[in-house]
Amino acid sequence: MADLVNLTINGASVQAAPGTLLIDAAKHAGIEIPAFCYYEGYSLQAACRMCLVEVEKMPKLQASCTLPVSEGMVVRTETAPVVKARKTTLEFLLTNHPLDCPVCDKGGECELQDMVFRYGAGESRFTENKHHVDEKQWSPVVFYDGPRCILCYRCVRVCNEGMGVGALGIVNRGVLSEIAPSHGDHLECDECGMCIDICPRGRVDQRNLPLPDAAVGDESHGNRLHILLRWLQDDARRAQRQDHARQQSRPQRPQRRVPLHQRTLRL
Ligand code: SF4
Ligand code: SF4
Ligand code: FES
Repeated sequence: MADLVNLTINGASVQAAPGTLLIDAAKHAGIEIPAFCYYEGYSLQAACRMCLVEVEKMPKLQASCTLPVSEGMVVRTETAPVVKARKTTLEFLLTNHPLDCPVCDKGGECELQDMVFRYGAGESRFTENKHHVDEKQWSPVVFYDGPRCILCYRCVRVCNEGMGVGALGIVNRGVLSEIAPSHGDHLECDECGMCIDICPRGRVDQRNLPLPDAAVGDESHGNRLHILLRWLQDDARRAQRQDHARQQSRPQRPQRRVPLHQRTLRL
């Protein structure tokens, strides 16, 4: 086995096999570097820029998801310039993104929301009207909500490289870029659900699952079972939220004022 590479991350000595990506070396050393587009096992995309880190002797911040470790490397993952870069990236990602987390189905379990809480991009310099695109239905159960998509291409890669189907691609350029089915406006696939599962934003979404198809225990429907479980979880969460909203909107009964002479003293 080739000699291990020695490097330092945030002051800790780390060893990794030659060729290991910096983001993985950090992860195995217990240091988390935020990432949207990187997904272990799939081709590198380097699209989101959330994984930028400072590397000594390198003039600019580096994308740790594409940088292999090298001997003597000194890396810092949470310095002021890194934090500022991540905050700016989030500001860009939110340019056209609706800011309605409290009513979003993914609210509370969204990687983008977690990162905004962590690095704070509460204010934005983009004050223009947001570019809105209506939600698209690609199949009876799969929906796509463009403005919430952060174009990490995880769904495209899992479908192509993981499932070997290639039912998804990307169309248009710049701010108009969006994920789209490879065949017209609908999916031609078995709806395995992997694109739904891997989306950090839940922006490829599933609804109206035909329950009989989600056959429990039938291996040919293994992934559909997964969709069913998520569908049931989502449904339970939605019901909880509706209950909570009902309770909040219930008119409060005015407190009855008890005359002083009728009050009992509790010791
Ligand atoms: S459901 Fe499965 S096969 Fe269809 S687009 Fe998504 S990942 Fe590809
Ligand atoms: S739909 Fe989800 S997984 Fe696909 S590119 Fe958009 S955010 Fe990424
Ligand atoms: S995770 Fe490195 S650029 Fe997206």
